[in-house]
Amino acid sequence: MTNSIVINADVSKGKINRNIYGHFAEHLGRCIYEGIWVGEDSPIPNTNGIRNDVLEALKQINIPVLRWPGGCFADEYHWKDGVGPRSERKRMVNTHWGGVVENNHFGTHEFMMLCDFLGCEPYICGNVGSGTVQEMSEWVEYMTFDGESPMANWRQENGREKPWELTYFGVGNENWGCGGNMRPEYYADLYRRYQTYVRNYGNNKIYKIAGGANVDDYNWTEVLMREAGRLMDGLSLHYYTIPGEFWTGKGSATGFPEDEWFITMQKALHMDELITKHSTIMDKYDPEKRVGMIIDEWGTWFDVEEGTNPGFLYQQNTIRDALVAAVHFHIFHKHSDRVQMTNIAQTVNVLQAMVLTEGEKMILTPTYHVFDMYKVHQDATVLSVDATVGKYKYNGQEVDQVSVSASQDKNGKVNISLYNIDHKESAALSLQLRGLKEVSSITGTILTAETIDAHNTFEQPEVVAPAEFTQFTVSNGQLDVTLPPMSVVLLTI
Ligand code: AHR
Repeated sequence: MTNSIVINADVSKGKINRNIYGHFAEHLGRCIYEGIWVGEDSPIPNTNGIRNDVLEALKQINIPVLRWPGGCFADEYHWKDGVGPRSERKRMVNTHWGGVVENNHFGTHEFMMLCDFLGCEPYICGNVGSGTVQEMSEWVEYMTFDGESPMANWRQENGREKPWELTYFGVGNENWGCGGNMRPEYYADLYRRYQTYVRNYGNNKIYKIAGGANVDDYNWTEVLMREAGRLMDGLSLHYYTIPGEFWTGKGSATGFPEDEWFITMQKALHMDELITKHSTIMDKYDPEKRVGMIIDEWGTWFDVEEGTNPGFLYQQNTIRDALVAAVHFHIFHKHSDRVQMTNIAQTVNVLQAMVLTEGEKMILTPTYHVFDMYKVHQDATVLSVDATVGKYKYNGQEVDQVSVSASQDKNGKVNISLYNIDHKESAALSLQLRGLKEVSSITGTILTAETIDAHNTFEQPEVVAPAEFTQFTVSNGQLDVTLPPMSVVLLTI
């Protein structure tokens, strides 16, 4: 069938918060150490210890916000161990992730420097699980207080005269699990207490994010909103796309069977239902949608690559991951009235990464290319789209085969992203461009591949790479497009 789509360029559905394209980098495996931080004395070219190749690649995708230091690591991180002369910093065991030694060489100053280089906002996650209220409070004072105080003085002694600007602060992570195994009632009380001492100093205004639900734990959202909703700016949600089972076998990142392609897409699409249901609960307590939904961990989670440390969560990244990213972005755009930020897990060498490194080598993943193509949607106005689309059927099950999401940027350009998740069939789309004065020129970019697990390697880094897209015609405000199987396309008008 031909999929029929109407893009209403004159009907706006609000703004796509640029933070929807946010990231997450944890002290986990080779994400921070080696992936980002190599140290000033490394033979790998670096700027003040941060590797140049990764930095340049990440700058290109306009990361708006970066979450750090965890994840599970956040609730055993003691920030004071990570400031001052590096040679004197405490060494600790990263018990969550591989039991390796954490030398604390990448701490608050290094993270803020990274954000500065990337031109992004920091999002810091504090320690509730094993940290004190005082410790959390002092961290905020250390970073943001401009004046005389024990923490501000210490910051200055450590080489930073002026405070940093810090907006986003998370009060713990996964408090229902690795962040303390708490009941929602208990965490809601702790949240109320800890957040009291997360102070706004001077003009710095903190956006406080409470630890939210795991997947479909709707009771968690209910309790948090009821008991603490008025004291938070954001409430998080974590959901990973796992084709298999978390504990018994998640499925392989490459070399997987066809049915795992379908299951992966089905599970990625589940994000829509999760947002809808959590948001409905939030609406009950916050009909104005003041509290943002912050999906600060999402992405694919597969079995680790053979021969790698199971605690390092290192996985390859294929065209399947690219489609998963596109599926998520279309869902996030649709819910942009509630979803104010999302952070893919994780930026480098961990889970659904943008870049993979091996020594001094680096490759861009298919997911990276989707972030690069879709960055035009950041802060743009989301346009209303009416769609009647066909189904992608597999083993008696079905999901929508294609999806279209459109936005208009501040210069009036309309960007239309489209994907076809069918691994075999191409899709014909007929798009009516309503409300657009004229269509003078259209440019297109496509990301696709020949096989379901096509991916880039250090030997062949360009197997999955964006190319010019020309399979469309336009006449009288109608755009006819053919999307190959397993493809993500961006059209700019
Ligand atoms: O991203 C990996 C881990 O997944 C995070 O540390 C944790 O918050 C989640 O369970």
